[in-house]
Amino acid sequence: MSNNRTMTKILALYSLTMAFFFLSGAHSARITFTNNCPNTVWPATLTADQRPQLSSTGFELSSKAFLSLDAPPLWRGRIWARTECSTDNSGKFTCATAECSTGQVACNGNGAKPPASLVEIFIAADGGQDFYDVSLVDGFNLPISVATKGGSGECRASSCPTNVTKACPTELQMKGSDGRVLACKSACTAFNTPKYCCTGTFNVPETCPPTDYSRLFKQQCFQAYSYAYDDKDSTFTCSGRPDYLITFCP
Ligand SMILES: *[C@@H]1O[C@H](CO)[C@@H](O)[C@H](O)[C@H]1NC(C)=O
Repeated sequence: MSNNRTMTKILALYSLTMAFFFLSGAHSARITFTNNCPNTVWPATLTADQRPQLSSTGFELSSKAFLSLDAPPLWRGRIWARTECSTDNSGKFTCATAECSTGQVACNGNGAKPPASLVEIFIAADGGQDFYDVSLVDGFNLPISVATKGGSGECRASSCPTNVTKACPTELQMKGSDGRVLACKSACTAFNTPKYCCTGTFNVPETCPPTDYSRLFKQQCFQAYSYAYDDKDSTFTCSGRPDYLITFCP
């Protein structure tokens, strides 16, 4: 009898604890990376706000392979993938696009060298409203998408499935040593002027309207941020601690 009561108490305590974790949203969000590209890519993660990095900041992902990482509540960060990476004779790891310049597969808190297609995710602390988007503000190197699993609310997928590099005007092209066009720079990266970077007197949405270049990115990928003050349509929301699915070449 007394054993049963103890058991009941333990179960009750367990249920309460689980309910607390569930309601408080203290559990992690799982981020699953899938490589749909014909070639290997090297995904990378960067945690913002000086918080601890995820368990991996960079890894190799073969074509058709997938891998999951857990992100804690109240996580904000960026995800991208590097292409055409290799290790030289001295052991230094480098990539043709979206390099993070650590000389290693891990990015260890370094960001992507533009151009890089980015997924940005903000995971709320309490199972509240998450925000996520695809951003071409730092240019484009690879088609990318973000979708949610579970959660409640709008939870729409945001995708940039187009190869924007194919439509990239000459002045924005990033070429490899062999002359191949590898990626497409943003106008801000290419020209570094206040008008394109929304800095100086252009530092508010009212004074930094779309440009022909940002419109071009928008035409190619209408769900993605095309420049710093792109319209609100580019931000997506989902509540209740969804998991995330990131696909390269969706
Ligand atoms: C995108 O287009 C560029 C230029 O044609 C090409 O080099 C690259 O391989 C393409 N990328 C993908 C992922 O298809």
